[in-house]
Amino acid sequence: MLKHRPRRLRMNNQIRSLVKETRLCIDDLIYPIFLVEGNNIKKEISTLPGCYHFSVDMIKKEIEELVELGIKAVILFGVPDIKDEAGSEAYKEEGIVQKGIREIKKLRNDIMVISDVCMCQYTDHGHCGIIENNGVDNDKTLRYLSKIALSHALAGADMVAPSDMMDERVAAIREILDDNGFKDVSIMSYSAKYSSAFYGPFRAAAHSTPQFGDRKTYQMDPCNSDEAIRETELDIMEGADIVMVKPALSYLDIIRRIKDNFNVPIAAYNVSGEYAMIKAAANLGLVDEKAVVIEMLTSIKRAGADIIITYFAKDLARWIRESPL
Ligand code: PBG
Repeated sequence: MLKHRPRRLRMNNQIRSLVKETRLCIDDLIYPIFLVEGNNIKKEISTLPGCYHFSVDMIKKEIEELVELGIKAVILFGVPDIKDEAGSEAYKEEGIVQKGIREIKKLRNDIMVISDVCMCQYTDHGHCGIIENNGVDNDKTLRYLSKIALSHALAGADMVAPSDMMDERVAAIREILDDNGFKDVSIMSYSAKYSSAFYGPFRAAAHSTPQFGDRKTYQMDPCNSDEAIRETELDIMEGADIVMVKPALSYLDIIRRIKDNFNVPIAAYNVSGEYAMIKAAANLGLVDEKAVVIEMLTSIKRAGADIIITYFAKDLARWIRESPL
């Protein structure tokens, strides 16, 4: 009788590493950066300990550190001083993100700069679009999102990442980019973005909490999974180069379904609440931070993500360099 003994393949480190199915890799990481107006600012974000608000003049050291660690991509979020109902700071040539893109590309052309395309940090009402009759007007918002994406491309962004969840925004953005000679600027679409309570620490950091209502009329219902497939399919048809699932941890099943259904690179956003919970628990001595972060990020990769956007990117890169996982 043949004996099956799976433990043979777990006997020691060498054999475990030979049969390891999932490996975290620095190349797969995107690090989020928050930019604020002003000078000489590097201020820790209270809801995201270890992450900072940077004024553009202070970004150099951070970029050098990322390059040193081997991190090749950043995603930029702007926190403007002035907000209005049309979010007009979001598409200004001298807007905070536009200045940041230019500065980073000037410092290191080999760092890939991705820009978050959304309006919620820029509107006085905190919603991700133009308000009409107390609701976000999809098609009016598309015109603004297109302008924002174009302004980022003009500043030198390598990739734009719409996170608003309006219908048909990928098509609108692709069209305006192509019409203006930016055929090579890619789109990473937040395709399955859920209406989640895990964004809390980010909203505090980006001052983007909606001033009335919530985002349930545009972000997805956490109860739904088939809908994520429909959303993702539409984004791919409209021209998304990379699709995204967000948040990551409570949605690992969605990552896997998308991986099994489509053949495009998948990004997962390990969001602020997921980060803050681990930081808080580690601070209280309840968990071993390094061990749980590695386990958590591995689970995201194992679920099917090719790319992970995470506030832990620098820590993970350091750990991988100290001793390959
Ligand atoms: C903007 C945006 C949000 C996040 C990324 N882009 C917040 C939101 O939709 O409310 C959340 C990121 C995080 O929590 O880390 N629309």
